[in-house]
Amino acid sequence: MPPSSRSILATTALPYANGPLHLGHLLEAIQADIWVRYMRLRGHAVVFVCADDAHGTPIMLKAAQEGIPPEQLIAGVQADHLSDFVRFGIRFDHYHSTHSPENHTLVLQFYEALKTGQHLAIRNIQQMYDPEACLFLPDRYIRGTCPRCGALDQYGDNCEVCGASYSPSELVSPHSILSGKTPEMRETEHVFVRLEGFHDRLRQFVHQGTLDRGVARKLDEWMGGELRDWDITRDSPYFGFPIPDRPGQFFYVWLDAPIGYLASFSAWAHAHPGTVFTDWLKADSPTELYHFLGKDIIYFHGLFWPALLAAAGFRLPSGLFVHGFLTVGGQKMSKSRGTFLTARDFAEIHPPEALRYYLATKLGAGIEDLDLDLPALLRRFNSDLVGKLVNLAARSTPFLATDSGSRLSGSLPDPDLYDRFWQEQKPIGLAYEARDFSRALRTIMDLADQANQYFTACAPWGARQNDPERARGIATETLNLFRLLSGYLKPVVPELVARTEAWLGVDTERWEDLAHPLLDRPLPPYTQLLTRSAEPVPGVTIHPGSTDLPPPPPETLAMNESPAPIDITFFNQMELRVARILTAEKVEGSEKLLRLRISLGHEERTVFAGIQAAYAPESLVGRLTVVVANLAPRKMRFGVSEAMVLAASDGASGPFLLSPDSGATPGMIVR
Ligand code: 2FM
Ligand code: ZN
Repeated sequence: MPPSSRSILATTALPYANGPLHLGHLLEAIQADIWVRYMRLRGHAVVFVCADDAHGTPIMLKAAQEGIPPEQLIAGVQADHLSDFVRFGIRFDHYHSTHSPENHTLVLQFYEALKTGQHLAIRNIQQMYDPEACLFLPDRYIRGTCPRCGALDQYGDNCEVCGASYSPSELVSPHSILSGKTPEMRETEHVFVRLEGFHDRLRQFVHQGTLDRGVARKLDEWMGGELRDWDITRDSPYFGFPIPDRPGQFFYVWLDAPIGYLASFSAWAHAHPGTVFTDWLKADSPTELYHFLGKDIIYFHGLFWPALLAAAGFRLPSGLFVHGFLTVGGQKMSKSRGTFLTARDFAEIHPPEALRYYLATKLGAGIEDLDLDLPALLRRFNSDLVGKLVNLAARSTPFLATDSGSRLSGSLPDPDLYDRFWQEQKPIGLAYEARDFSRALRTIMDLADQANQYFTACAPWGARQNDPERARGIATETLNLFRLLSGYLKPVVPELVARTEAWLGVDTERWEDLAHPLLDRPLPPYTQLLTRSAEPVPGVTIHPGSTDLPPPPPETLAMNESPAPIDITFFNQMELRVARILTAEKVEGSEKLLRLRISLGHEERTVFAGIQAAYAPESLVGRLTVVVANLAPRKMRFGVSEAMVLAASDGASGPFLLSPDSGATPGMIVR
């Protein structure tokens, strides 16, 4: 490990264990994952953990509604969350649950420290109680008329119409959302953390110089007045950890949630004997602790959590990395508007790395909201990654051919160019570290443009016949620029870069590995690294769960029309293969389509072909034809079409399917 290596614990906010992950969760997880991957590429040791936030009334009620124990509900949700994270390339070192023995032990330790330090106060409070559901109601479970503006049906803690904050007892005509009954005021004795006692320590934390200025200002503002005591008690029934010396009472979910960060890390440390958990927690620990979180939970992380850590004698966070909300069309994601996308909805339609890339192009270090525009997302992915980056590999590789296969030249024709690109690692790295990913990507894409311009200006196709070595040199230079830029993008699109590196036979563990170009070595044949993603027609919203994408714009050619000439490399990007039709059937509800099951030798696919008028399904079974195998899968009303069958037509007659000559077998490439 290099001497400047830092030891870092990074966390993302813990998702509640009562529902699926949505794109808002992914925004934060992707931001953190990119940062963690970048820091590792610079040689720092980062442990990246998260957990499900498993306690609280909503989880208890949801389990009851489903007729299962809460433990069963949270186990299922945790597994779903984890698989969604993995699908989007988010690699936590450990994913835990707040309902775990590690967390229980730590929560008791914090509680003892709070008691010993005399940071607790015990007071009677008046709280709304639902006499029918037999429980004390969280503020969000009470609705009524806003005492300020008179708006009907507002939450117990604030009004969505006029923005007023109030206590549920001020609400006019309150009712419980569980039973509809008017809640009763009941007295109960609760335990509070006296935050005021931490004022000096918190002020020091806020001004330690590592917090975003806007965040520090907000915290300062809250600390300007007296810090209100924090109620950490909830009455039975509740799903949480019981308070040991208070029968019938539980710790509030927001007490054990941040402690869950440490529980997750302690479980990881337990499995990694080189890491001493307590060393990381010591007040003078040289390690660093960063929390990624949304701007709605700054109060919890900027005041409550540091106060708890201080009470326990532990170190405080080194920084809070706060982000804004994800909006769609400038508005909050909303189920009724069809703009609420779960992680799964997205991944079933689009490549997860398209989301990673798009969010990175928009993410800065600030707390501004970030708007998701789905058509723009796909255009960006296609134009930057397919059209600029991967294009460098696709267009240069054909010029590396020698009599004995592809081979990179022994030297670069323009080593200064490569060096200049390598020097850019400094500003790009600084931008990544500062979480200004949009700046990093702008620089990288600007370099991709320059690399494409270099290739075009050198025109290796002109030299191919007379000076093949020169053509190979230009291609070697271009391919190395491609590899360097891929390395720069590795934190953002790790899967694409893993495919690229597998093809090139390299593994970039540190950016320093990119300092020297790849020279004088064989190169396996180019295989498609990335395909364009189908772009929806502008203005058409995709409703999650819908299986019907709008049809692509018409692109067919008239009989006597010829498109502009293309470079052979463009043709080579098309994967044409021989396919055998295994089954064919009419598609119910369609007069045009046949559903074909085809074999490409090594795999089978489903294809929808508009040939029902020309072919009886049974006449097709067993025959060979030709398909475009790398056309991005298209979601249609009847299912997903995973390739395109080629057929001839003059508009009046046809379509006529293509057939290869005898001898061809399924999977063969057509050139
Ligand atoms: O706001 C939320 O979704 C909470 N579940 C976040 C908890 S973060 C941490 F403090 F545990
Ligand atoms: Zn109001």
